[in-house]
Amino acid sequence: MENVEIIKKAKDFVKEQHWNDYSGHDWWHIMRVTNTAKAISIQEGGNDFIIELAALLHDVADEKISGSEEEGLLKVSKWLKENDVEGRIISAVIEIVTTISFKGGNLKHMNTIEGKIVQDADRLDAMGAIGIARTFAYSGAKDHPIYDPDLPVRDHMTHEEYRHGKGSAINHFHEKLLKLKDAMNTEYGKRLAEERHEYMIKFLDQFFLEWGNDKKNFRPYCQ
Ligand code: ADP
Ligand code: NI
Repeated sequence: MENVEIIKKAKDFVKEQHWNDYSGHDWWHIMRVTNTAKAISIQEGGNDFIIELAALLHDVADEKISGSEEEGLLKVSKWLKENDVEGRIISAVIEIVTTISFKGGNLKHMNTIEGKIVQDADRLDAMGAIGIARTFAYSGAKDHPIYDPDLPVRDHMTHEEYRHGKGSAINHFHEKLLKLKDAMNTEYGKRLAEERHEYMIKFLDQFFLEWGNDKKNFRPYCQ
């Protein structure tokens, strides 16, 4: 099968996996990450086919989509084999999908340029205006409050705490989103992240102004 044909089939497969997710991993998240990854790769290089395939498949192994990471990874490798993807491409894609998730503060390092690019694209989609929208959508879906001044910001979380602990949408900025800028892998990714980071800071400034809080209360977390 030609690479373009595999990509087309991958899109159909992934769309089916994500169509009913409203917790931040909907099909359009996958499309945006894929497009951003392609844009970064124009500047930074890497193998186009591995980048596009890994970007499309990067969240199939998320437990929200496939029940468990293990099950999801099996599903991805089965699909790649069934569609006659070359062994070395399968290994590269599986390595990226396995490493990509940032769970509970565990920043995992990507070993390849393709992985670095897809991880940057995924992180960029958690930042800026889209990142803000996704965070409030996720919080609503999980019955979390917009903000509760009595809920402390959690510095270090186990995976269990990250997924099931009590938090608010605003705390999520401090617990994850504001840390992403300094976790970017590529130069171009970093440039895009700076803009999106600034936008989130402006949003938080305005949010706390309207809330009526002294901004000193949250400023330290924004540095
Ligand atoms: P990843 O795509 O890296 O696996 P997650 O599954 O942790 O990331 O999160 C996907 C999106 O869901 C995040 O970008 C964020 O907007 C939102 N999200 C995740 N956890 C929370 C949370 N505890 N509170 C608010 N939003 C969250
Ligand atoms: Ni993602």
